[in-house]
Amino acid sequence: MRHFLDIAPLSPAALRAILDEGHRRKAARAGLPKGAVDADAPLQGRLLAMIFEKASTRTRVSFDVGVRQLGGGALVMSAGETQLGRGETVQDTARVLSRMVDAVMIRARRHQDVTAFAAASAIPVINGLTDLSHPCQILADLMAVEERLGPVSGKRVAWVGDGNNVCASYIEAAAAFGFSLTIAAPPAYRPRAQVLQAAVAAGAEICIVDTAADAVNGADVVVTDTWVSMGDNDKDARMAAFPVFQVNEDLMRGAAPHAQFLHCLPAHRGEEATDAVLDGPQSAVWDAAENRIHAQKAVMLWCFGLVGP
Ligand code: CP
Ligand code: NVA
Repeated sequence: MRHFLDIAPLSPAALRAILDEGHRRKAARAGLPKGAVDADAPLQGRLLAMIFEKASTRTRVSFDVGVRQLGGGALVMSAGETQLGRGETVQDTARVLSRMVDAVMIRARRHQDVTAFAAASAIPVINGLTDLSHPCQILADLMAVEERLGPVSGKRVAWVGDGNNVCASYIEAAAAFGFSLTIAAPPAYRPRAQVLQAAVAAGAEICIVDTAADAVNGADVVVTDTWVSMGDNDKDARMAAFPVFQVNEDLMRGAAPHAQFLHCLPAHRGEEATDAVLDGPQSAVWDAAENRIHAQKAVMLWCFGLVGP
């Protein structure tokens, strides 16, 4: 059973195969209407159920469009409107959905609910964001980097801001894809030590620095995210701690001249990133958002054993 719950458990070869398949499928359907099915329709007859415990625009639309482009279909479940919201266990839900659909994508408040769901599931489960990680986002981001700068291996990536779920997936991706990662975050919002230690043990080159300027110095890629993620309940403390980590034009001048800016979106304009950066020539955020479709198509194919080792 192939679940896509995090970056770390996958081999570098599997991850590379997924990214290459994303690039290949994106190129192969250039110019086609967005709803047109890929010529090989590899998931014809397959159904993806999506469960959302939190809001979503990109994840919801990109999985729905992606599975349709592969010839399959999708259905969306808002967790609060299902029996999950009334206390049915994730395990029982997993057992039932395993009889009704072919794969499940979950966006959950608690990461452990996704791993528990997967353990009880007879079909592939994909993590569509939890409190701890956002692996699909990183694949879409890395596709955008490679489109603009070539192979991500050997590149210098700077993470500026909250050491959150998206940052954790970057940390996990660093070793497998061979990029170095420098992280600048307020002391109270640094990434979890456990994630850092595991990545370093896997061979990742990761550095924690104090200032945003130190992180972006000479970087090929600058990444940030919201200061207040879904589920965070310490907004006031965060709004006080993060302003010195804003990504603006002045900060971007410290990166390499060809540096690309990424943000998973939604953006809080004027907070973690300015309009000039989000909308400027170095912004790859819109390409990365589109790439959610292409990268996740490859993830789904990997889950069904149709891509990669
Ligand atoms: N980046 C991302 O996952 O966006 P949504 O919350 O809109 O799905
Ligand atoms: N870190 C953000 C990402 C949203 C896509 C959150 O968890 O809310």
